[in-house]
Amino acid sequence: MLSIGIDLGGTNIKSALIHRDEGIIAQDSVPTDAGRGPDYVLDRIAESVQNTRNKATEDPVGIGIGSPGIISLDRTTVSNPPNLPGWDVVNVNEELKKRTGLDAVVENDANLMALGSSRYGEGQDLDSLIMLTLGTGVGGGIIINRELYRGATGAAAELGHVIINFDGPSSNSKAKGGVEAYIGQRFLIRNALPLIKKHPDNTLAKEYLDKPEALEPVHLSREADRGNNLAVQILSEAGRMLGYAIVNYIHILDIRNIIVSGGVAKAGDWILEPARAAARERLLPPYLEGFQLSYESLGNDAALLGAGSLAFELLANHR
Ligand code: BGC
Ligand code: NA
Repeated sequence: MLSIGIDLGGTNIKSALIHRDEGIIAQDSVPTDAGRGPDYVLDRIAESVQNTRNKATEDPVGIGIGSPGIISLDRTTVSNPPNLPGWDVVNVNEELKKRTGLDAVVENDANLMALGSSRYGEGQDLDSLIMLTLGTGVGGGIIINRELYRGATGAAAELGHVIINFDGPSSNSKAKGGVEAYIGQRFLIRNALPLIKKHPDNTLAKEYLDKPEALEPVHLSREADRGNNLAVQILSEAGRMLGYAIVNYIHILDIRNIIVSGGVAKAGDWILEPARAAARERLLPPYLEGFQLSYESLGNDAALLGAGSLAFELLANHR
């Protein structure tokens, strides 16, 4: 049985042809050009679906699509994704059915990353887990007893908007001082710039002050590997905030396995070790038992696999 999994990101739309037992068998990626608005982006998604569908040897059961933003309980509409300009409320399923003729089902991108991890990735052996996706936006997904936790209206797990400093900086979100404003990729770099400016002789200042948009967490970790203390300091500060966020999640949910993915997570232990230390320092002692913060080794494939699994779970018996 085949399905098509889509990951709608602010930069790229990724799609994959997914075989229920074998996982991903083909992939495609097209630029999102999010600035051009929802109609343009929906056309690009349809184009990417077509590219992937052309590689299929049988008809896929349908499309599972992961999108940033709040998803309706019936999994048809996306509302207000903070990092996709012009999206108010869009019925993604209807728009994709029109454009591709295939049935579609939409779910929050980070929720699908959690589902993919639970079905195919690091989460395979865990009953419950918290997934954090650390990209431009910070997303969350919660798996309890192997099922996605969706909340009262389908909108649960906006973990990037949990406030960790009420006087803190803004992101594209209303939640000033929220997790995303500290460890969302773009915001992490923005917050680090004043510190980098104070060290004009540092490699980071020399290479990136005139083009800060080119600076990514993976560059910081490479510099940290070379012994650059400023890079170490920036990543540990971000890690510390991640750790405090995790303390809040664990205190509410009593789920001890935290898995991270996304561009910021690529900074690896330079960010994860300080996060573990900060969390250990502030968790109530009983929660320390079984506490684990790890990295999703499937990377972005977990999101595509999650999208494909949702299509198998919800669309396969439609036919
Ligand atoms: C959005 C979430 C999304 C996350 C990752 C956040 O800004 O509010 O819905 O899951 O970014 O894309
Ligand atoms: Na979510």
